[in-house]
Amino acid sequence: MAYSALTVKPVTVRIGAEISGIDLSKPLSNLQRQELNDALMEHQVIFFRDQNLDHEAHKALGRAFGDLVIHTGVKGLDNHPEIVAIHADGASKYVAGENWHSDLTCNEIPPMGSILYLPIVPEVGGDTMFASMYAAYDALSPRMKQYLEGLTAVHDGEHVYRPLTDDPNKRFPCSVHPVIRTHPVTKRKGIFVNASYTTQIVGVSKDESDGILNFLYKHCANPNFHVRFRWQPNSVAFWDNRCTQHLAVWDYFPQVRSGFRVTVAGEKPM
Ligand code: SIN
Repeated sequence: MAYSALTVKPVTVRIGAEISGIDLSKPLSNLQRQELNDALMEHQVIFFRDQNLDHEAHKALGRAFGDLVIHTGVKGLDNHPEIVAIHADGASKYVAGENWHSDLTCNEIPPMGSILYLPIVPEVGGDTMFASMYAAYDALSPRMKQYLEGLTAVHDGEHVYRPLTDDPNKRFPCSVHPVIRTHPVTKRKGIFVNASYTTQIVGVSKDESDGILNFLYKHCANPNFHVRFRWQPNSVAFWDNRCTQHLAVWDYFPQVRSGFRVTVAGEKPM
């Protein structure tokens, strides 16, 4: 694809591109918005360096691509409920996104994209890994593709978010989605189950479901489908949740890694 308003440099053959020549804190022109969207569709996750996003600019950037989603599992910032803090330090007992996942697949309408801005990162470590679910799907055998086609699976937020709340009345979403999802824009197929939220394939025994899900998780963990983003202070990553999974590597304890994420609304998976 040709770009005139941005410079787009692929990081791997299958997934990820570094974008330069744009200041994300300024309102986007139509052409910039279109080309960012094109780059996201082509590379599934796009990375930016040396950005300076206050909360309003971060939200405006997200809104250029759709409505912002209020996180259904964790509370947003006091005056900016659409923004969640992503923070770890020497007192942290866990970090968000330590297991492979696509964001909030427990929602009936999971988000299209997420935009993470990290002003503070450790000197080394704290990378985020992204996996292309197109590449993972393409590498399945025709027999396995045939088996998975038409299956659905349960995605539950309960076991993910219950340990993080003291409120026994809080309810978390639980939804059923196709195991193989067709991307609404690219029309490419991708695997749409993940180790964080997916609990069961519908209509098969628990043993069969566990066997198939574990096979798919192991398959998706193949580094041939991955890109690993090494953060610098003030980097931004924008990923398409419909065709990727990601994992936050927590190898930097007790150092500080801190920033903010907005999540952009999507559509019901098909
Ligand atoms: C997330 O799952 O959104 C967090 C990713 C990260 O902190 O790298």
